[in-house]
Amino acid sequence: MQRLRTQVAIVGAGPSGLMLGHLLHLHGIDSVIVENRSQEYVVERVRAGVLEQGAVDLMRDAGVGARLAREGLRHSGVYIAFSGRRHHIDMEELTGGRAITVYGQNEVVKDLIDARAASGRPLHFGASDVAVHDIDREHPRVTFRLGDDEHELTCDFVAGCDGFHGICRPAIPPTRLQTYQRDYPFAWLGILADAAPSSDELVYSLHERGFALFSMRSPRVTRLYLQCAIDEDLDNWSDDRIWSELKTRLRTSDGWEPNEGPITQKGVTPMRSFVAEPMREGRLFLAGDAAHIVPPTGAKGLNLAMADVWRLGSALASYYKSADVRGLETYSDRGIRRTWRAQRFSWWMTSMLHRSDSENPFDYKRQIAELDYLVSSRAAMTSLAENYVGTAFD
Ligand code: FAD
Ligand code: PHB
Repeated sequence: MQRLRTQVAIVGAGPSGLMLGHLLHLHGIDSVIVENRSQEYVVERVRAGVLEQGAVDLMRDAGVGARLAREGLRHSGVYIAFSGRRHHIDMEELTGGRAITVYGQNEVVKDLIDARAASGRPLHFGASDVAVHDIDREHPRVTFRLGDDEHELTCDFVAGCDGFHGICRPAIPPTRLQTYQRDYPFAWLGILADAAPSSDELVYSLHERGFALFSMRSPRVTRLYLQCAIDEDLDNWSDDRIWSELKTRLRTSDGWEPNEGPITQKGVTPMRSFVAEPMREGRLFLAGDAAHIVPPTGAKGLNLAMADVWRLGSALASYYKSADVRGLETYSDRGIRRTWRAQRFSWWMTSMLHRSDSENPFDYKRQIAELDYLVSSRAAMTSLAENYVGTAFD
């Protein structure tokens, strides 16, 4: 058994764990990051693509934004498509200059792993049997195995950055945790294709056959999603069928449609809304997907995760610098408020843009009327824009 000591034990090397480790490093606080997957798996996992202004600012201010500034695609607007037409929403103009940036989550993760390596602080991939203990004592512990070696990490705080299926949230006694959940009766089939994006902005589309989303990763790579069944079998989706369905749902009467190219990745993502309250128990703090999940339609998950670790990093810095516990004590309440705002927005975008078997022709007409109102009212567009670009981290 190897016994280790650190100030903050971080479980999970997704965007939240890596960013928290980096922010703590900038404050001179020691941490150990323990991840159960391999480095390749963590870096290759294709997920989010949209960064709010606050997340871009955080990357820049933390000194890990150089590649993002060079390669990120700044988008000042977004298209909403329905009934054969695309409608542009100029988010920058509506929000007084705020925008989003398209930069793959795996690029964020790559940049943060590089920063971790440069810091010389420990990051263990491929850990097994990860468990947290004594979260209500002064010195919690995290135990794990690396190969055949057992490790016991004693710390001051544990950061549960281990995503929805992690082990940190279940370490909180159920009587101390209130959870709220909504599962949606559909999923997303997502692809990456080697095709130049045919639109300068993202296109969110509601079609009679269901939702579709046009996004991108670079000037040569398009990212596309279509609403599918929860138990969709990818084997039933040949590349031809995927392109045909995407084009049917996205094509507009002005002739716009996505460019085709070789499909390099396919996956099915379930859709869920989930909140766990509070985000803290004793000396365990939950951050990111460990504490909350939003359906991807609002592009909020990664951004909520970044807002959490920004708050947690600042709170821990105040604690270590001047024994000030106010940040730690308000961490959960402030996070929950932001989470519910993002939950409301993500649920609204999802309900407005997807078709559900439990709904009838009345509901489709109502959805079209809502979209029609959205793209013709400056107040409604401003509401979407404000939520989509996100509020400053607080
Ligand atoms: P995760 O990324 O889940 O990281 C948790 C880490 O903990 C993982 O590396 C995991 O392997 C590790 N772990 C798990 N269990 C253990 C254990 N027992 N021990 C050690 N380590 C463990 N969000 C957006 O903001 N914008 C978008 O455009 C967007 N699009 C999305 C599209 C898709 C298809 C999907 C699936 C998600 C999307 N999201 C989006 C959501 C976003 O990807 C997540 O919110 C984000 O990954 C959360 O980061 P995290 O670090 O909290 O959790
Ligand atoms: C993506 O590019 O992966 C993406 C964009 C917008 C979303 C979700 C995912 O709402």
